[in-house]
Parts: sequence; structure tokens; C-alpha cells
Amino acid sequence: RPRPQKGARGLRFTPVPPNTRDAVTVPDGYRQNVVIRWGEPILRGAPAFDPERQSARAQAGQFGYNCDFLALLPLKGERNRQLLVANHEYTDEILMFRDYDPENPTREQVEIAWAAHGLAVVALEEDRGNGRLTAVSRHHLNRRLTATSEFRLTGPVAGSDLVKTSADPTGTRVLGTLNNCSGGTTPWGTTLHGEENFNQYFANGGSATDKRYGIGTGATERKWERFDKRFDLAQEPNEAHRFGWVVELDPYDPQSAPRKRTALGRFKHEAATVRLTHDGRPVVYSGDDERFDYFYKFVGSKRMRHGNSRAAREHNLSLLDEGTLYVAKLTGDSPAIDIDGTGKLPKDGEFDGSGEWIPLATATAHGAVSHVEGMTAEEVFVFTRLAGDKVGATKMDRPEDIEPNPVTGKVYVALTNNSNRGTGANPKADEANPRHANKHGHVLELTERWNRPESTRFAWSLFLVAGDPEDPSTYFAGFPKDAVSPISCPDNVAFDAHGNLWISTDGSALGSHDGLFGVATRGERRGELKQFLTVPTGAETCGPVVQDRRVLVAVQHPGEVDGATVERPASTWPDGPGSYVRPAVVAVWRADGRDIGV
Ligand code: FEO
Ligand code: CA
Ligand code: CA
Ligand code: CA
Repeated sequence: RPRPQKGARGLRFTPVPPNTRDAVTVPDGYRQNVVIRWGEPILRGAPAFDPERQSARAQAGQFGYNCDFLALLPLKGERNRQLLVANHEYTDEILMFRDYDPENPTREQVEIAWAAHGLAVVALEEDRGNGRLTAVSRHHLNRRLTATSEFRLTGPVAGSDLVKTSADPTGTRVLGTLNNCSGGTTPWGTTLHGEENFNQYFANGGSATDKRYGIGTGATERKWERFDKRFDLAQEPNEAHRFGWVVELDPYDPQSAPRKRTALGRFKHEAATVRLTHDGRPVVYSGDDERFDYFYKFVGSKRMRHGNSRAAREHNLSLLDEGTLYVAKLTGDSPAIDIDGTGKLPKDGEFDGSGEWIPLATATAHGAVSHVEGMTAEEVFVFTRLAGDKVGATKMDRPEDIEPNPVTGKVYVALTNNSNRGTGANPKADEANPRHANKHGHVLELTERWNRPESTRFAWSLFLVAGDPEDPSTYFAGFPKDAVSPISCPDNVAFDAHGNLWISTDGSALGSHDGLFGVATRGERRGELKQFLTVPTGAETCGPVVQDRRVLVAVQHPGEVDGATVERPASTWPDGPGSYVRPAVVAVWRADGRDIGV
């Protein structure tokens, strides 16, 4: 039984100190288990994991690689079970194949990588009495979607010339989803998945828009273009326009093709999180994870229908196709002379100001309208970054997750870092991004006007400026800095039922492994940040889900360290020496069975 701890309700645990153990380290009195690993069979007929004899066919029925976003959904009528939906962002071939030659991947290796990307749906079962969660293989809802499964394009760009290819002259059917980073769960029971760094899969980009999206002009590192010409933009210039969207999946309908929702714009979607307006319309927040890029929101025009009838479900699957896409512009309230790029608080004591959501385009049932001079609506939705450039949106320090707090309505934006801020000709520090060469990142708190999700104005302030608390440029919402955990590179966020913000990190620049942290957002202890766990060598912490009695995290890319290979691993988590390192999902609970942190 853990000793009683001080702290905000939900955060009463002994913080895990920074460390570099090749393990998942949890607070005293807490237990953990590996729920599911890369390669575990989940579909009927899939073989047990055998990394020495892996095949694309096997992988397509097994849990994919590099799990990122996690959602846990209810399974009505099935006791002690929940449905897990996971993203498989990308593959680390050098850690997956013993004989990998990066210059000459084989067709089988490439096809295994295709099958290891995408999404997984898998039922989980709780062992009664001990807290462990395990996968139910061959459950009828279990599913894998990969880089070659069929997806549909819907909304204003479906059928546009900009997304037609020789394999799909209709511009509506896409094979696969790529680089699904984080995501969200909708109030109507579906999940959203952000296609993030899709640029890396496409060779021979040449256009100005390819360049703005980071698509290179030569061969790719993975060399998929040798095995499928759609990855060669010299041959299929529009194929890359079919990636970089938010995907909506109905995990309860295993026959349905997931939809790429083009009304939410095309950029490196970190994630997409949803809440409803008072009259029941969806509002979706999404960040574009790139140095000096923007964050966005979509306000739907149709209301969600309640109930589980077929008609209601079909209606709700059209909610994200009609509405207006906005980009954020932030204005500080302190004079520029007060913002010196060191991160020291300006004279008014806060990094804060006002903001505006600038409309970019509106999609309706009868067509779409652009609000950006010189761009058609289709161009705004496909080349959304260029639309943001034109309207003068605020260049941020890599917007990762954005999520509304279900208890207070305030919206939190994780800005992971930006080593280029203030260097050379790059933008200088401003009040919303107040540090030059920002190594540790920050978290912005945004309040929509009248606390209405659809408002076009908002107020904002920096909630956290991350780093070692002894670093004078850090800030923890005013909480005394001798009583908080060090944190660096905030990435994915989640909330618990108390309204505490949980932050997972990617790429800590403090010498510790990455981890998961909880922080109170209100009351006397607002800003008291505590580390809940750390992850193994080379890993980032992803997909946090914080339920009353359990925390779930995805341990993504363990062992991803320069120079590491299968023969010379940097990590052998989770199965120990002599085994392949495997990305996996971990559950954490209290040994005494009580709620987390109370
Ligand atoms: Fe896939 Fe922006 O992290
Ligand atoms: Ca200020
Ligand atoms: Ca991320
Ligand atoms: Ca990241």
C-alpha cells in the first residue's frame, strides 16, 4: 500500500525521479504489466511472433510497430473488457530485421513495414483481482489497418483533381494511412488519427507545395518508391496529397472503410481532439508539428445526434465533412522590448495575451468557399500551410497535442521545442514562444471567449515553461519550483476525471529518459507537476490514457539510439537480454486496487 501523499486529488503519489533505467519505472505502491507488444497475433490465423521468420502476411494479423495514440472504448455487454485503438506511427527497420541493409531493403522487408504501419483495434480483458490487462486475440472487433488497406476521402477535397491518381481516377479511394501520431476519441464513439510526418515516404517531390510540406527532391530513406510507384512523385505527383489528413475510424464496425476528413485541412496533424458546442456541433483542435507552424480548429455546422440507431450513427459519421477551418493568431500584451528571448517573465508577470481564430475555408453540402485571397477552397484544404502563411497565423514552437480540459473547458497546447527559434533569419522569440533555441518546450493554456468552443476570439497564457526547475526561464503556473519535477519536450496530453493535465514527453533534453507527468490545472496546487513514470532507453512516452484505476501508455521506439541494431541493441525491453526490443503498451495500477493518485 503506498504511503499517503500530499498533492492535488488524483496526483497523490511519490514522484518518480529522473533516471536512465532500461525499464518502465512507476511510483512506489504501483504495479504494471505489458498489455500488448509489437508482433503479438490479434487476428484469426495470425502466427505467433517470430522475428527471425517474419512475413508481411504475419505482420498484417499482428499488433503493429511503434504504438503512439491509444484510445480505450467501452465494450457493452462484455464484462471486464474494453476496446483498445492504437496508432502505429512508423517503423524502425534497423531494429526489426537482423540483416537490414538500408541501401537495399528487400521487397518482403518493405511489405512487412507497410503491414506494421497504420492502426490496430484489439479487445482487452482485465484479469479479475490483479489489475493486469491482456489482449483478447481473435475478438470479432479486432482489426488491423495498414499502409495498403482501403480508406475513403470525404469532404470538400473528395473527387478533386488535386487528389486523382492513375490508380484512383475518382480521387476518393486511398490505399493506406501513414505516420499516425496522436489522435482523439469523439463523443459519437469513433476515433480520430492524425497523419503526421507523411512527407518522408515520398520521393522526388518537386513543386513549391511539396517543399512547404518537407517532401524531398531525391530518394527516400525507406526506398518504398522502388516497390510501389505511387511513392515516387515524379510518376504520381498527387499521391502525397492523399496523406496528411485526419482519419476517422468507427472501431465498432469492422467492415467500414476509415475516412480521411478533408474539411480538417492537410498538414502534419499531430492529433485531433473533439468537444461539442452547446448546441451539439463538433469542434476539433489540431496542431501542425513543425518548427514555426500553426495550430488550427474546425467548427462543424451539423449537430450530433444521440442514440445508437443506424440513422444516428450514419448522421454522426458526416459531422466532420461540413464546417469552417480556422488557424490561430496570438498577440502578446507585453511590449516587444520585454520579450528578450531568455524566457524571463515580462514586467506584467505573465506570458499572455489575446488571440483570434482566422477563418480559412468553409465546407458545405453544396460546395466549399475560400476565405483566403488568391486560393480556391480546394487549395486551402490541400495546401493548408500556405493558407496559414497568407493570413499571418502565429508561427509556434512545434504544436503537438491540443486538448480541451473536460472539467474547465480551457484548452492546452503542448509546444514541444524549437531549436531554431531566434537563430539566423528565423523568427525571434515572441510572448507565446518566449525562448530562443527553445530546447525544452512549453504548454499554452487557452480560454475561448465566454468559454464557448466555437468562439473566434480567445485569451491565452503560458501554463508551463518546461525545463529543469532550477533554470530561471522555467515557469510552473506560479507554483513553487522547489516542489516540482523537471520536465522537457511535452508532446501528448490527456486529462483525468479531476481535470488534472497529464503530459507525456518526447526527447527529453535533461539527461533523463522520457516520461509521463501529472499537473493540477486549478486550485491551490495549480502548477504542481509530478512525474508518474519513466520509459526505457531510446523510447518516447505516448498515448496516455488516464482512467480512475489505471494509466495506459504506449512505449514508442524503445532502443532507438544512434548506431543500435538487432545485434547491438541499446535496449532489450520488455523481454530482456537475447530478445528483440519491442514497442508495447503498458498498464499501470495501484497495488491496493484503489484509484490512481487519491
Ligand atoms: Fe509524432 Fe509530433 O509527434
Ligand atoms: Ca504579458
Ligand atoms: Ca507525438
Ligand atoms: Ca513528438
